[in-house]
Amino acid sequence: MNWEQARELLFFQRRRTPSGLLAPAPHRDVDELAAVRASSLCIASGKGGTGKSVVTASLGALLARKGRTLIVDADMGVGNAHILQNVSPEHSFVDVVEGRLGVREVLTHARAELDLVAAGSGVSRMAGLSNFELHLIACGIESLESGYRHVLVDSAAGISTQTVSFAAASDVVLIVTTPDVTALTDAYAFLKVFTQRRADCVPLFVVNRATSEEEALSVAERFRGVSHKFLGREPRSIGWIPDDREVVHSVSERQPVVLAHPGSPAAQALERIAAALVQEFTAAQARGLGRQLLRTVGYTPKIA
Ligand SMILES: Nc1ncnc2c1ncn2[C@@H]1O[C@H](COP(=O)(O)OP(=O)(O)O)[C@@H](O)[C@H]1O
Ligand SMILES: [Mg+2]
Repeated sequence: MNWEQARELLFFQRRRTPSGLLAPAPHRDVDELAAVRASSLCIASGKGGTGKSVVTASLGALLARKGRTLIVDADMGVGNAHILQNVSPEHSFVDVVEGRLGVREVLTHARAELDLVAAGSGVSRMAGLSNFELHLIACGIESLESGYRHVLVDSAAGISTQTVSFAAASDVVLIVTTPDVTALTDAYAFLKVFTQRRADCVPLFVVNRATSEEEALSVAERFRGVSHKFLGREPRSIGWIPDDREVVHSVSERQPVVLAHPGSPAAQALERIAAALVQEFTAAQARGLGRQLLRTVGYTPKIA
């Protein structure tokens, strides 16, 4: 089912079948609709404030140079991905779940080859979407993603079903942690829940805000060790990002650090991480974020 059909089911045509299921309008096969799929990357963490949005903003800017890129702000109701691209979207996922607009209509152009769907701000109920609302979002993403080479999900913190669903639906998952014990503990909690959903996927991780390479390596070693011991699984490190004042400046300037301060140590680290991710996309099969989210949500439209 695509977005238009889902919206039709919800708001316009309520047709009852003998089984009590709502009958979708005749539609083309999903494969036909999404013949070319974007590679998807979910930037996640257990704890808030570890740098997910900072990392997403820069990866978005860098990957857009390689091919059209979409940032999906999945920090529903409290999203700030748009701030870091210096755009003020008029619409967001809130309009989508409330049935006013389709995902295509809430798309915001951020810069050359980079678009964004905003999560809406100050709308608390967005953090606990129903399966049907998540289904609407998934249908919308599914209808969009064939137009992009990369789709990046700027995830919410935490391990709610909604948050983990975005990660579980993505081709590549990048966990952002800092050296703080609390951030590492929450990164481990995220990994544990994620692993239960996607036993086939080895997540990547990055240590952000490290004060030295030595610290980053030691934190990475600890994270891998604990994961191996208690989960029997090891996430794979894809680099580290130094604690860098230029990141803080770039946030006030509402720009990705790789554009605002390209020569800074953090920007250079992010360039290396983006290059490594391009290799990961080549290795991973692009399964379609929207389509996988639809499967993950597992919603079946029914009349109450
Ligand atoms: N490498 C870094 N160096 C210095 N400060 C950083 C770095 N990464 C993130 N920060 C700071 O942390 C803040 C929170 O980052 P953000 O990406 O919004 O976190 P999250 O999206 O995980 O909640 C940023 O506004 C910035 O001030
Ligand atoms: Mg964020």
